[in-house]
Amino acid sequence: MPIFTGMTKLLGETEKETLKQQFFYGLVQKNVLVTGANGQLGNELRVLTARMNLPFQFFFTDSDTLDVTDREQLSAFVRDYRILYIINCAAYTAVDRAETDFEAAYAVNEKAVENIALVTRQEGIKVIHISTDFVFDGQSKIPYTEETEPNPLSVYGQSKLKGEKALQAAGGEWIILRTSWLYSEYGNNFVKTMIRLMRERDRLTIVDDQRGAPTYAADLAEMIVHILQYTEETEWKTGIYHFSNRGETSWFGFAEEIKRTAGIDRCELVPVTTREYGASAPRPKYSVMNLSKICAAFHVEIPDWKEALKRCVDLLM
Ligand SMILES: NC(=O)c1ccc[n+]([C@@H]2O[C@H](COP(=O)([O-])OP(=O)(O)OC[C@H]3O[C@@H](n4cnc5c(N)ncnc54)[C@H](OP(=O)(O)O)[C@@H]3O)[C@@H](O)[C@H]2O)c1
Repeated sequence: MPIFTGMTKLLGETEKETLKQQFFYGLVQKNVLVTGANGQLGNELRVLTARMNLPFQFFFTDSDTLDVTDREQLSAFVRDYRILYIINCAAYTAVDRAETDFEAAYAVNEKAVENIALVTRQEGIKVIHISTDFVFDGQSKIPYTEETEPNPLSVYGQSKLKGEKALQAAGGEWIILRTSWLYSEYGNNFVKTMIRLMRERDRLTIVDDQRGAPTYAADLAEMIVHILQYTEETEWKTGIYHFSNRGETSWFGFAEEIKRTAGIDRCELVPVTTREYGASAPRPKYSVMNLSKICAAFHVEIPDWKEALKRCVDLLM
C-alpha cells in the first residue's frame, strides 16, 4: 500500500529517515511525485489512488511543500525520494487574471515545466504533464487533433503552450495530456459555482457561443493512473494526447444540464454572447478535441460528459 497517499505536507524528519531506510533495503519501488496536488486534479488523484491497490507509492505535494518553480528544490526532492514518475498537476489556472499577472502565469506554466523537463531528463524520470484546450484559437469547426497547429489567444494559453514546448525540447520521456473545462468535487469550478449561484440568484447570464467538452477531473485522474499501469506493463508512449469527456456543449448548455441534474427548479438561465459577457481573457469559440489517439493508444473508452457530470453532482449533493 502507498505509505504517503493522502499526505500533502512534506514529510517530517522521522518519516524521511524511515523512507530512506526502506529505499536502502529496496523495499519501496516506483515512486510517483504528484505536484500541485491541492488542486482539482491532484485531489481526485489522491482519492483515487487511496482506494486502489497500486504498485506505486505516491508523494502528493503542493506549492507550500514543493514549489515547482524552484529547480534546486525539485532536483533534491526527486533524488531524495527516488522518484520514477512525475505527474505535474501544478499550474497557474486563473485565465482572466493571467492577462495582467503574466509573470506569475509564465513562472508556473512555462518555467516550472522547463525545470521538470530538465530534472526528469537528467534523472531518467517519466513525466505526465497536463495542458489545455486553450492552446487552440477556436477557428476550427471540427474537433482538434494532436496534429493541429496550436495558436493560443490568451496569456494562459500561451504560457501553457510554452510549457508543452519546454517538455518536448528537453527530449526525455513525457506524455502531455491536453484537457478541457475541468470540474470536480474539489476546488473552484463551473459546476460548483453554478450550483451555488442558481440557489442564490433568480437569474444568471451564461455564455452560449463558446463550445467545448466538459471533463470530470475524476475521469482524468483515472486516465492518468491507467497510463501508469498500462505503460508499466507495455511500453512508454511519449506524445501529446487529448482527453476530455465525450460529446460537446456550450457553457449555457453545460449550465442547463447542471441545473437539470442537480434538480434545481429555480433561477432563470439566460444565454449571452462572449462579447456581452465581457471576460478579460479571449477564449476559443470552439475547443472540442478529437479523442481517437488516446483511446487507441491506451485502449480506453471515455465516458460521455452528461453521465460524468451526474456522477460528480451526485457526490456534491
Ligand atoms: N481548470 C480547468 O478548467 C482546466 C482546463 C484545461 C486544462 N487544465 C489544466 O489541468 C491541470 C490541472 O488543473 P486544476 O483545475 O486541477 O488546477 P488547480 O485546481 O488550479 O490546481 C493547481 C494547483 O497547482 C498549484 N500550484 C501553483 N503554483 C505552484 C507552484 N509554484 N508549485 C507547486 N504547485 C503550484 C496550486 O497551488 P496554490 O493553490 O497553492 O497556488 C494548485 O493547488 C492544469 O495543468 C491546468 O492548466 C485545467
